[in-house]
Amino acid sequence: MYALCGGNQKFVIPVYRYMLLLFRSFKVKLAARMPTEMKWDAQKFSSNFSNRRGLIENALMEYPLNWKSGDCIIDIGSGTGDVTKHLLLNLSPYISEVVGVDCSQDMVQFATENSGDPRISYAVANIAEKSTLKPEWISRFDKLFSFYTMHWIRDQVQTLRNMNSILKVGAEIFLFFTASHYKELQYASTKITLDPEWKEYFMNFDPQILYLNPSWQAENLWWSSSDQAKGYADIVQQCGFDVVKANVHPVCTQYGSEERLKEVLSGWIPHMASVPKEKKASFMNRFFQYLKEAGLQTEWKNLILCVHAIKISEVS
Ligand SMILES: C[S@@+](CC[C@H](N)C(=O)[O-])C[C@H]1O[C@@H](n2cnc3c(N)ncnc32)[C@H](O)[C@@H]1O
Repeated sequence: MYALCGGNQKFVIPVYRYMLLLFRSFKVKLAARMPTEMKWDAQKFSSNFSNRRGLIENALMEYPLNWKSGDCIIDIGSGTGDVTKHLLLNLSPYISEVVGVDCSQDMVQFATENSGDPRISYAVANIAEKSTLKPEWISRFDKLFSFYTMHWIRDQVQTLRNMNSILKVGAEIFLFFTASHYKELQYASTKITLDPEWKEYFMNFDPQILYLNPSWQAENLWWSSSDQAKGYADIVQQCGFDVVKANVHPVCTQYGSEERLKEVLSGWIPHMASVPKEKKASFMNRFFQYLKEAGLQTEWKNLILCVHAIKISEVS
């Protein structure tokens, strides 16, 4: 800076301030393009990988993709990077590069520190917002995967169009996400937001997740349709893909003990971000009581929507 300005300090300070302002306004704009920050507990979420691993491995076997030499893959909502590193990277010896993308800066940092590999890079981006995607990603990838992420996204059509834009024609996608209505979570969520002890934290609560958000559901008619797989396949098709297979699978995860399930849930339920740190444990106990009142068991039943599709055309 000094060298550039020939040592004129009076000039240097305004330029420095101007650049600082520019940098701050860039950060504000970028933040506006990210979804409302959901505070993930990456460590807790990662400790749950063993529970999810088997389900993902089974699905990957049931929906085989066509691999070729030099395939370049992208993992949308890569989170802690456990799936990216331990499952995706091992899917084929032909993989040349894996990019893990997540809208949470914390998750990207955790993945970079804990799930690194010379062939993997992680980046912050919101797949629902095209301007956050790197220009060099356009038409670049041969395979796109996304696990447990699509139900966190409001605008599914825009997201699928953005996915289309970063793929080569002929590239394959595999989406795996929750399609459950989760009556127990809905019940506990309603109860806690009316609970005299907790309601002050949920005055303007707008859960950023499909199964708890009626406005999101109203914009995603496939969600409430009697055939979710068919409804979702239709929108995938409209976004330039040919659907190979789309199905809803009932799955069941055994958590063994209530304490374990409580620990897992506290790693991701959207309510946690609204509660002060020192009250999180007692909040979780109350929330869990409501879940049990609604019939929740340590055997967690879920519906997973899996979609395998091929990009057949560009969408403008
Ligand atoms: C439940 S975690 C799943 C992580 C990982 N795929 C796994 O199965 O272990 C969902 C991840 O999706 C990310 N996510 C949610 N919405 C996103 C968006 N619009 N763009 C990119 N990432 C998103 C979250 O930050 C979170 O890390």
